[in-house]
Amino acid sequence: MSKNYLQAAVEIAQGAGKILMEEFSRPLDIRYKGDEADIVTQADKRSEQFIVSRINEYFPGHAITAEEGTGQDTASEFRWHVDPLDGTTNFAHQYPCFCVSIALAQRDTLLAAVVFNPYYNELYTAARGEGATVNGRKIAISKVATLSTSLLCTGFPTRNRKLSPNLQYYGEFTQRSHGVRRDGSAALDLASVASGRFDGFWEFGLNKWDVAAGILLIEEAGGRVSDFEGKPYELGGPVILATNGSIHEEMRKVALEISRRTRTPG
Ligand code: IPD
Ligand code: CA
Ligand code: CA
Repeated sequence: MSKNYLQAAVEIAQGAGKILMEEFSRPLDIRYKGDEADIVTQADKRSEQFIVSRINEYFPGHAITAEEGTGQDTASEFRWHVDPLDGTTNFAHQYPCFCVSIALAQRDTLLAAVVFNPYYNELYTAARGEGATVNGRKIAISKVATLSTSLLCTGFPTRNRKLSPNLQYYGEFTQRSHGVRRDGSAALDLASVASGRFDGFWEFGLNKWDVAAGILLIEEAGGRVSDFEGKPYELGGPVILATNGSIHEEMRKVALEISRRTRTPG
């Protein structure tokens, strides 16, 4: 019998987290992927190698999309979305806000998700229809009802930074809320919306591996995910808005207004 998907994802994420913690205490070997701020470390690569080989061992034939490019396309309707180290810049600067993010989708449906921060030993999990947890405790989105009383988070790309429209949005949302945090890990940002620490998140240009696990966490914790038009967010789409649901429409209207005023995408 095939291993339970979530159980397997948890075991694999914890193994990868152990590798990240080993690497965290070693001198760093930083490489640049092209852009001056787009870095990759030995930790990203070792973690991915471990995750991909375990998925192949447990679920031979499943497809894998993994950030460092060692995944595979297959004919399977099952696909794993893997970010072996989300928050590489933080990791490289010894700022302990980083995680492993692993999600399994069956065609377009996310089935299981794990986001694991090994430094703080925080393990977020979700399985479709079964809710979301942190370290085994059920989590739920916040009850904050208005943008003006909310705490938000966002992120900025490490690639093609000058093309990002996000500074405009960052400024405006900062003035309309209790504040906007910029923690450097989209997967942890989404997990924090799911667990009610943050009330809303948006970002441009994220990849499937950045958001797949976090989206299922938010959906299972009772939140809402869309684009700025309110259409369902498609994995890898140009912009994501993920909230506790209560402030979704308010955030969406503000975002659309900024997008029209500044003629920036959204
Ligand atoms: C990055 C982080 C960051 C986000 C960037 C991502 P990485 O992922 O999630 O928060 O703002 O857009 O690229 O490169 O650390 O895996
Ligand atoms: Ca990432
Ligand atoms: Ca990464």
